[in-house]
Amino acid sequence: MTEASCTVPAPESFQTVGQALALAGQLLANAGIPSPAAEAALLVSSISGLPHAALALASTTRLTARQRYRLRVLTLARVEERIPLQYLLGSAPFYGLELKVGPGVFIPRPETEGLVELVLARLPQGPVQVADLGTGSGAIALAIKSQRPDVTVHATDLSPQALSFARRNARRLGLEVQFHLGDGYAGLTSLFHAILSNPPYLPQAEIKTLAPELFFEPLPALTPGGDGLDVIRRIISGAPERLVNSGFLALEIHPPLAGAVQQLLLDAGLQGIEILPDLTGRERYAAAVSGCASGAPEAHPLTSAPGPRCKAPLQEGNESVENGAQKRHDHNAGVHGRVVKGVAAVANKQS
Ligand SMILES: C[S@@+](CC[C@H](N)C(=O)[O-])C[C@H]1O[C@@H](n2cnc3c(N)ncnc32)[C@H](O)[C@@H]1O
Repeated sequence: MTEASCTVPAPESFQTVGQALALAGQLLANAGIPSPAAEAALLVSSISGLPHAALALASTTRLTARQRYRLRVLTLARVEERIPLQYLLGSAPFYGLELKVGPGVFIPRPETEGLVELVLARLPQGPVQVADLGTGSGAIALAIKSQRPDVTVHATDLSPQALSFARRNARRLGLEVQFHLGDGYAGLTSLFHAILSNPPYLPQAEIKTLAPELFFEPLPALTPGGDGLDVIRRIISGAPERLVNSGFLALEIHPPLAGAVQQLLLDAGLQGIEILPDLTGRERYAAAVSGCASGAPEAHPLTSAPGPRCKAPLQEGNESVENGAQKRHDHNAGVHGRVVKGVAAVANKQS
């Protein structure tokens, strides 16, 4: 890019906080970036050191030459190169935590906070065990641990770079999580009261339609290739034998694949299947409970504890999960009633 073709004027144009907000917002809007005013405020807050809430009252505050220069460099990178704002600032907010992010790790998204909400509402009291598969920056695992310090949280990722961000975030925040480098359930040997994941879920064919920012994020965090279901398939098929009886699986999913995910959950013999909307009404989350089928307890393949069909009862809080699950089933006229209704709802939406 030559200076002549540059869309961002010289640093002198950003004299005050107010001018910087207006000009950066305009440049971001011209570039077609969604939420330009919000992004401009984050940029100006970052270079000035002023808290977000103080910007409006500081509109006549003059920026230093160094601040003006830095704002121009960041705005240029955002507008011309479409580098994600969170990579430029080096951090992303998630569930009240500030997480360090950068190239090599997925940027946590606001909709994943909905998955955390869903999990916190269902986790029984007591010292339960939770696994977050594909933890990225550690977002879900750290959010759960920050709200429920009594829970033992395990988190996996196959990307060493992602795991290094997650470990650093955990250290900075003083939150203890057991991290495991590997594919899927690799390294996990216990039974879990909850298995959670925001896995890569975009179908390969959708990759070419993505906004330019997305191409800065690691591809294996966005898509497993093919139909987008490969990682989800493996998570779901491995869940029954790793969940305690009445333990639950909760996933963030790609809304157009909600029907397919629901079928995978059914095929795995999970119960109480729910497909739940995000704040925009899209089918964004799937949850299901591990049931106890008839027959004698089987040995768990990893731990030799009572196995997937009729596992050991939870030490504490068992009642609350079972009662919670039971209430949802009663309310919805039984597991199968709910599943059939859910499938119909998904089918209607897609048609
Ligand atoms: C969509 S990102 C989610 C990251 C984080 N949980 C969040 O919500 O911000 C998916 C993550 O799964 C990891 N991943 C992809 N395939 C995996 C696999 N087969 N086993 C473990 N992790 C995987 C990626 O490296 C990436 O960090």
